[in-house]
Amino acid sequence: MSVGAQQSNALDPESFKAIAELAYQESGLTLAQEKSSMIQSRLRHRLRDLGLPNFAAYSSLLQSDRGHEERRHLISALTTNVSHFFREKHHYDTLTEELVKRLPALREGGQMRIWSAGCSNGQEALSAAIALLEASPEIATLNLKILGTDIDPAVVQFARAGIYPERLMGGVPKPLIDKYFTEATPDGSERSFAAKPVLTQMIQFNELNLLARWPMSKRFDIIFCRNVVIYFDLQTQTKLWPRMKDALAPDGILFLGHSERIADPASFGFDCTGPTTYRPRVG
Ligand SMILES: C[S@@+](CC[C@H](N)C(=O)[O-])C[C@H]1O[C@@H](n2cnc3c(N)ncnc32)[C@H](O)[C@@H]1O
Repeated sequence: MSVGAQQSNALDPESFKAIAELAYQESGLTLAQEKSSMIQSRLRHRLRDLGLPNFAAYSSLLQSDRGHEERRHLISALTTNVSHFFREKHHYDTLTEELVKRLPALREGGQMRIWSAGCSNGQEALSAAIALLEASPEIATLNLKILGTDIDPAVVQFARAGIYPERLMGGVPKPLIDKYFTEATPDGSERSFAAKPVLTQMIQFNELNLLARWPMSKRFDIIFCRNVVIYFDLQTQTKLWPRMKDALAPDGILFLGHSERIADPASFGFDCTGPTTYRPRVG
């Protein structure tokens, strides 16, 4: 490729600004100028697939009425979807302690609802299901449901398929792989594992933008919203906390990621009750 051609494919400052503003409005993602070259490399394939000559043309498309579908591809390309099974294990310990407390009510016909908000490829929701089944296999017959949601349609599709290449299975001990997954290696592909129905029947995966309206009517007993708000600025986080509190049952729990905090939790009606663990204030 000539130097001229390379330059025309570079993300110019004006297009960066337009793309960053759009990403912020659509999803709350904040893109720092220092990340410009990373964003350029994440979006180059979109220019190629669309046959566009440069980022100025791409940014015009995004801002046009025809740009709706491409804005979904943009968010998909810009989100960071890294996740792991049993990430931050202490939250799963708290989760199973809560299950034990709630088991008598569940046996009486009560329900328990868990939300993995920003679920990525689904490892968080599956980890919750495995932890709960390990604590009490009878929950498979009780009214316990897990909802996984994400803004990125690609990861939601992946999570629904429930098939994980071996490289994504780190964190799941071999006995649990044998118990909860079946080998499902497509011809000629990397060794892969499919989640068994005992897991998938507990979980539903849907697309949901945390900045948009939430259609769920029932409150959640546990919300995992981990390693999501780290990409949001304080203003977006500040708008999210009251909504999370409203979505939680009065005795519910909100888990955040290890580097995330609610600044001044009391002002949002939360108490911090453990590492990155929050409960609605009583009274
Ligand atoms: C780093 S992953 C975290 C996955 C998982 N919660 C964990 O901790 O392992 C962050 C996820 O948040 C999602 N996300 C980012 N902005 C979002 C928004 N506005 N609404 C919903 N999901 C969003 C991304 O698509 C991505 O899959």
